[in-house]
Amino acid sequence: MCGIIAYIGNKKASNLLLDGLKKLEYRGYDSAGLAVHDGQKINTIKASGRIINLADKLSKNPLKGNMGIAHTRWATHGQANIKNAHPHSDCSGQIWLVHNGIIENYQKLKQFLVKKGHFFSSQTDTEIIAHLIEEFYNENLLTAVRKALSLIKGTYGLVVIHSLEPKRLIAARMGSPLLLGVGAKEVFVCSDAAAILPFTRDVIYLEDGEIAEIYNNKINIFNANYRKIKKEPETIKWDINEAEKDGFKHFMEKEIFEQPKSIANTLRGRINTKEYKANLGGFIEIKNELSQLKYLVLIGCGTAHCAARIGEYMIEELACLPTRAEYASEFRYRANVLLKNTAVLAISQSGETADTLAAIRQAKEKGLLTLGVVNVVGSTIAREVNAGIYTHSGPEIAVASTKAFTSQLIALALIALFLGEKKLSIKQRRLIVKELESMPQKIKETLKISRQVKKIAKKYCKYKNFAFLGRKFNCPIAQEGAIKLKEVSYIHAEGFPSGEMKHGPIAMIDKNFPSIFIMPQTSVYDKDLSNAEEIKARGGKVIAIASRSDRRTRKVADDVVYIPKTLEFLTPILSVVPLQLLAYYIAIYKKRNVDKPRNLAKSVTVE
Ligand code: G6P
Repeated sequence: MCGIIAYIGNKKASNLLLDGLKKLEYRGYDSAGLAVHDGQKINTIKASGRIINLADKLSKNPLKGNMGIAHTRWATHGQANIKNAHPHSDCSGQIWLVHNGIIENYQKLKQFLVKKGHFFSSQTDTEIIAHLIEEFYNENLLTAVRKALSLIKGTYGLVVIHSLEPKRLIAARMGSPLLLGVGAKEVFVCSDAAAILPFTRDVIYLEDGEIAEIYNNKINIFNANYRKIKKEPETIKWDINEAEKDGFKHFMEKEIFEQPKSIANTLRGRINTKEYKANLGGFIEIKNELSQLKYLVLIGCGTAHCAARIGEYMIEELACLPTRAEYASEFRYRANVLLKNTAVLAISQSGETADTLAAIRQAKEKGLLTLGVVNVVGSTIAREVNAGIYTHSGPEIAVASTKAFTSQLIALALIALFLGEKKLSIKQRRLIVKELESMPQKIKETLKISRQVKKIAKKYCKYKNFAFLGRKFNCPIAQEGAIKLKEVSYIHAEGFPSGEMKHGPIAMIDKNFPSIFIMPQTSVYDKDLSNAEEIKARGGKVIAIASRSDRRTRKVADDVVYIPKTLEFLTPILSVVPLQLLAYYIAIYKKRNVDKPRNLAKSVTVE
């Protein structure tokens, strides 16, 4: 999320910063800005929207100076407008900074700063850092930054400059990548090597807790205990085109492997590990209305609709609230019978999908409560619903949705826990909270099966039809597995409830029509196993996604991929990962345009 670049040296900073931002634009393009020190004072330019808008402003008003910071934003806190664009400043306008990450305790710190007389010009969490530094500044920027950071909880990749210190630049990292690019008499700081590769290949990666001071061509690095440490630059060997993909070949692959991080971002600050509850700030104000709900309709399109179908099972099971999942495009044909005390919850990565938006508008016209689970901050759906939660999974570039989906499932699990708070026992809630906390680690473990899935992809990539089968929580995963395969490999695939197979689809099965069973060890495992046997008995090939402890599936399936065990309602978050990988690798073997499959669009803004 977001991109940072900073420069200190003897060249004109603004051109270098702008070039760097262009390379980082894929990380977000809600707004961009830069601040450059001209030797006397710091001048800034900001623009909303794409970098080209900033370039246009800069061409009319060039900035002098050899030190500066720049940022391209993907909004998290505060709308995507010019006020919230980085760099941000303190009250005096002397301190300027750019920041990636999320400050979790920003509201508390803001209250503290407001009491001290600070005034704020944006709605961002970032701005509090500038004011905290101002609070501690006593002619030494490094000390002030260190003191400010000691009060901050959350994640940051941060670069700070001060108008009274024209030769000093401070960078700090905690949970958000930051590296120094070391050139001849110049140093770059950036969130992603893509931005600096044309200028230098020698880099120093900062670790969490480290602070770097670049002063008069010298780099001083301090560890979390504020001890000075020595770090030698290493040389980047890979090509610039790979850079923005972090060394992965495609965005889809990168986004699949990013899931431990993206779901950790969805969970951050949202589980109360003392009272075993979900903290959903976006729902607090409507808690009363939510407690009176009689019916909930979840809507979405494509992959978001699969998430809605899993949410349907989760909310009914944990909160005992009658829930229905609906294609957003079909919602209008059934909306007339909806009664008061019904809420409509839209699930959308982009927050702009036309069908989903139209359904939300119709629900509003009917006077129903509207809610959202949206990834893109400030998007139309996010703005138009009565309340909602952001998934914070970061920009998703590949058309086929992967990390946005698992984040949607985490968000829905949190909503189920929130709505079920009074119905669940403390023991059940403790179990759920503990398991949710472990999900980033479990996805990480699941990803270790990637090599095996690649081999399976090679073995099966020439088949022309696939069936995906699952039950209960994993029935919609069968649908999602089929969508993934269809959209990136153009192979025909269908997802069915396992129990439905014998009512028609099984007629198609022969040795050329493999079935993929999503059958982790849950309350429906035995039934899944019988259905797999039925396929086997008819000469069909079976690939199974099973739990690690399972010994029986192996006897039926031709190939088994094992995933970690988890609570039944959370199994889809893990079981979808091998299916994402399978679709990806089959598409690679078939030489498809993985990130931009034919006929599809990332955000469909027509009905
Ligand atoms: C398009 C994309 C899908 C996505 C769907 C819904 O069809 O290709 O990957 O699931 O739109 O998009 P949304 O942004 O609303 O989640």
